[in-house]
Amino acid sequence: MTRRSEQISLHLNAYLTAHSTPPDAILRELATETAERYPNETGLQVAPEMGTFLTLLTRLGRARRAIEVGTFTGYSSICIARGLGADGRLLCCDVSEEWTSVARKYWEKAGLAGRIELRLGPALDTLRALPAEEAFDVAFIDADKLSYPSYWAELVPRVRGGGLIMVDSTFSHGRVLDAGNDNPSVIAVRAMNDQAAADDRVELIMIPVGDGLTVALKH
Ligand SMILES: C[S@@+](CC[C@H](N)C(=O)[O-])C[C@H]1O[C@@H](n2cnc3c(N)ncnc32)[C@H](O)[C@@H]1O
Repeated sequence: MTRRSEQISLHLNAYLTAHSTPPDAILRELATETAERYPNETGLQVAPEMGTFLTLLTRLGRARRAIEVGTFTGYSSICIARGLGADGRLLCCDVSEEWTSVARKYWEKAGLAGRIELRLGPALDTLRALPAEEAFDVAFIDADKLSYPSYWAELVPRVRGGGLIMVDSTFSHGRVLDAGNDNPSVIAVRAMNDQAAADDRVELIMIPVGDGLTVALKH
């Protein structure tokens, strides 16, 4: 599956990528290593322009404490961690020891290892086990689609007023439009999109970058 928005032609996507801040050498090396080691999984990684956008949004929000649900080999985690203030901390949730071992290697290379904590295990368990007072300025959701409605329900209360909830792949490659599509992942993403749009704790927009990014500002 392409990581480009279906709404944008290949040519326009190349143009917008060429006119956005490019990934640095570390992110390029990480993308190359991921493609070499896991050629069938490269579509899991956020697109470069999405990574740049995550850094900008995190920086604009002056975030210091962030959480990521779905880390894979670490691309988006590096982008978010770089947008945090100097004393910022990022909590990453994933189930794969193997994939996140690559992430750990690149956190070291990027000088971010001391600012990122990884919790291995089903993210819903991790979220539900967090202390009641644990709160975040930024939450990024990019794990198993079936749990999207639950991730939204768990994370919105944990994001501070003025903080951001960002959700990747909310277009499901355009399949959210097909009411007849009964793929459980598509149904779950559609349900979360409806849940988010009706949630009066946030104001939000779906942005056609990558496979759709929902950006919600908590009131
Ligand atoms: C789309 S990838 C994340 C890509 C990542 N954000 C990046 O930019 O490279 C989804 C990740 O979710 C993880 N995952 C799947 N089910 C999970 C679960 N129940 N809890 C936590 N992580 C899960 C997978 O192991 C995978 O690494």
